[in-house]
Amino acid sequence: MFSTKPLHSFHLSSVANNVAEINSIDDLSCLKELTDSGEYIVIGEGSNTIFVENYMGTIVLNKLVGIELEETKDHFYVSVSSGNNWNDFVVWCLSNKIYGLENLALIPGTVGACPIQNIGAYGVEVKKFIDNVEYYDLESGQICTLDNELCEFGYRDSIFKHDLKFNTFITKVNFKFPKTWQPQVDYAPLNKLTNPSANEIYDKVCEVRALKLPDPKTIGNAGSFFKNPIVSNKKADELIYQYEDLPNYHFNSTSKKLAAGWLIEKAGLKGFSLGNVAVHDKQALVLTNHTGNADGKELIELASYVMKTVHDKFGVSLEPEVRFIGKHGEVKFSELNQNIYG
Ligand code: EPU
Repeated sequence: MFSTKPLHSFHLSSVANNVAEINSIDDLSCLKELTDSGEYIVIGEGSNTIFVENYMGTIVLNKLVGIELEETKDHFYVSVSSGNNWNDFVVWCLSNKIYGLENLALIPGTVGACPIQNIGAYGVEVKKFIDNVEYYDLESGQICTLDNELCEFGYRDSIFKHDLKFNTFITKVNFKFPKTWQPQVDYAPLNKLTNPSANEIYDKVCEVRALKLPDPKTIGNAGSFFKNPIVSNKKADELIYQYEDLPNYHFNSTSKKLAAGWLIEKAGLKGFSLGNVAVHDKQALVLTNHTGNADGKELIELASYVMKTVHDKFGVSLEPEVRFIGKHGEVKFSELNQNIYG
């Protein structure tokens, strides 16, 4: 048995039957053996994955590292192995004068995880710079390449959460950066900067994140626990009429995205704690293992309470953004809730 506590950033106490590492492309054939012999899940740094129960399978850790750079007159092409740490890669780009990812500073996790949920922050989503994604197809044993348009990127979403959820292991993310750079500073508080350099944007984002988001090394958490909800224009307009300061963003012609953190705060839950778990007191969209001793049951209980309270007050359903691992692999929040309380 192996403790999962150090393997995921929420640091819940649970165990897994086995742990394996992928250190090279050759190791990938062992994944094929694992699929035949039992259950497994792949994780990078476990920053968006929560082990809510003891896991009966093998946790496969992605340790593929390396970066290759090529350039043309107008673009940089950077090929990054999936096990590289995300923020190290952002810093590497800045030190090579390759700009574009500075708004995505300090997002925890690996490069391989970035296309899966199309990470985004401060007005930029990673899909803007992904040229294609390489993955190992466990069924065919082949390395495949999927161009950006085929990755079906959406808000915290991609094909890797749907049709390619199973039997794929992302090996590389290939980025394309135009050499002409435009700062993206529409999003507060970056909009206060005048004519910033990419390095200044990076520093500002680090400063803001450090103020609002708990460092997972000291307080267990998985970043935003819920997605910002997408509601119809009609529903959004009703709420905005009632609550003028409700932060809302255009999503598409029929719907708007609302700030879940605001809804949770206005429902009176910012800083609320239940045993060992809490709603973070500086950013209500983040749940924390504030004592370091939380278990999955407490977390599900707190998340359910937050969802119910927000729904009762605003008639808006929140959906978790994180991935839950139960006894036999990934589980939907609704199933977990039923298993524990049903
Ligand atoms: N707000 C509150 N109370 C709170 C939290 C937020 O009133 O407790 C308000 C803020 O004042 C602001 C609005 O809600 O007007 C949005 O807040 P913020 O800028 O902090 O961003 P967010 O929508 O809560 C999203 C991402 C974050 C990303 C930030 C910054 C999601 C689920 N989360 O959060 O991503 O860092 O924008 O761009 O989209 C993550 O995915 O783990 C993550 C941290």
